[in-house]
Amino acid sequence: MINYKEKIAEILSEAVEGLTAEELRNMIEIPSDKKMGDYAFPCFKLAKVLRKAPPMIAKGIAEKISEDPVFEKVEQVNAYVNMFLSRDMYVKDTVREVIEKGDDYGRADAGKGKTVIVEYSSPNIAKPFHIGHIRSTVIGNSIYKIYDFLGYDTVRINHLGDYGTQFGKMICAYRRWGNKEDVINEPIKTLLSYYTKFHVEAEKDPSLDQEARDIFAKLEKGEPEEVELWQWFRDESLKEFTRVYKMLGIEFDSYAGESFYSDKMPRFVQELKDAELLEESQGAQIVNLEEYGMSPALITKSDGSTLYITRDIAAAVYRKETYDFYKNIYVVASQQNLHFQQWIQIVELLGYDWARDCVHVPFGLVSLEDGTMSTRQGRVVFLEDVLNRAVEQTREIIKEKNVNTDSIDETAHMVGIGAVMFQELSNNRIKDYVFSWDKVLNFEGETGPYVQYTHARAASVLRKAGDEIVAKASSGDIDAAYITGDSAYELIRLIYDFPAVVMEAGDKYEPSIVTRHIVDIAQAFNRFYHDEHVLVEDEAEKTAKVALVIAAKNTIKNGLGLLGIQAPEKM
Ligand code: ARG
Repeated sequence: MINYKEKIAEILSEAVEGLTAEELRNMIEIPSDKKMGDYAFPCFKLAKVLRKAPPMIAKGIAEKISEDPVFEKVEQVNAYVNMFLSRDMYVKDTVREVIEKGDDYGRADAGKGKTVIVEYSSPNIAKPFHIGHIRSTVIGNSIYKIYDFLGYDTVRINHLGDYGTQFGKMICAYRRWGNKEDVINEPIKTLLSYYTKFHVEAEKDPSLDQEARDIFAKLEKGEPEEVELWQWFRDESLKEFTRVYKMLGIEFDSYAGESFYSDKMPRFVQELKDAELLEESQGAQIVNLEEYGMSPALITKSDGSTLYITRDIAAAVYRKETYDFYKNIYVVASQQNLHFQQWIQIVELLGYDWARDCVHVPFGLVSLEDGTMSTRQGRVVFLEDVLNRAVEQTREIIKEKNVNTDSIDETAHMVGIGAVMFQELSNNRIKDYVFSWDKVLNFEGETGPYVQYTHARAASVLRKAGDEIVAKASSGDIDAAYITGDSAYELIRLIYDFPAVVMEAGDKYEPSIVTRHIVDIAQAFNRFYHDEHVLVEDEAEKTAKVALVIAAKNTIKNGLGLLGIQAPEKM
């Protein structure tokens, strides 16, 4: 595909003295008002060098470059050179490229030979997998897909919270009030009820907290009875998580969670000691981070047991030594900002020069319309229930709307789950948001169902056009003049931008950039479809328009794919 910015910079460099093509490229703008052209070049900065008024300079440049075949016309307006591309050339080149690349349109090799770790989801074992976990799970999955698409070697890690004092509490509660049958029948809900009960009881009897701490210390020492219970809770919990991951179509390469590092920590406690970073404070070992404007980090407790942060230090080094990552990305809630700042600082202080290649990608809170959730009080909305409800409600809508489908079950799953994921990826990740059923399942708003529906609509147009026309359109042998009308051109401009959009989303760890762009494409497609007849008599015209439909469908599908969402052929 022609890189127009670069091409225009080259053309400008012939007409403007004293600036390199690179410098010129950075000055080129994309006007928000289409009447100002596809690209614009402001001449203010040249005035000093050339000692002429900017409009005069603009006029001179416009005259010099207007003959170039890349342009349909070039105008001078005040201090600007406004450039309108030759639509024929632009349209033909873009549509041909998209069709040729198909599923690979937008793919890049920017990351060739580099390994990126994306850590996401990472729920705590034996605690409910609730609606709050959807954020890390879905955002992380999309970031992984984007990096994979950009050509990086990727490793997906689920850093399970399968260790820590909460297991002391869980085991303590199970021994006191638990029942094996209940755990087997409904593991997480039962374990959660124990956990809740523990907190209620510990309010009354604070000695329970000490008992739980002692149990955890035994677990860390590897006492068989404690280990066995812990292992059982972990297995049962994982079964439940896996069920949800399956529904979401999400996978991991590694489930090395916190417990995996339990025997790897003494090395770092020693390294910290050797580096003279450890200080004793009331029997505990801490790293003082005052110099960096942070509160101290607790590395080992007075009973010698290690903490969450110690395990993160061990995990980062393990990952570097195992995968030699280029970047190690953590998709974790913004509530943990301080935690990440602390341990990354500590890793740097230990002399690991790659410390800053560990990137915390934070996100805001999700709450429910009827208030937030709290695991401790047992007020919790299970993610699995939310997903099931999404599928159920979608099934109802499909029946009501008489949606075209071969399998209601399959479509309800695709659209229901897709809707929840799409909403998750619609806003800047750092924003808090309120989960709303009305918004999620709205087929007309800027939602997943709307984009999926647009894709299915394009598929339906292609079915109606027939194999022969589709084959002809796919060969790239089209008369581009038929798809240079304003709404077609608008759509093609958005399609052209897709690879750059993916790149930007990767750079910023921000899948919503992709989400918003495919909403724009879907809207532009529907405008085009409204403004123009695609399946006209004239075969040349029909073929060109069908080619554009293929390109649009392709781009929407690739975009949805990067969000982890399927693109239905019928809907
Ligand atoms: N298990 C933690 C939680 O549920 C999240 C883990 C985040 N990842 C990490 N490497 N610290 O809050």
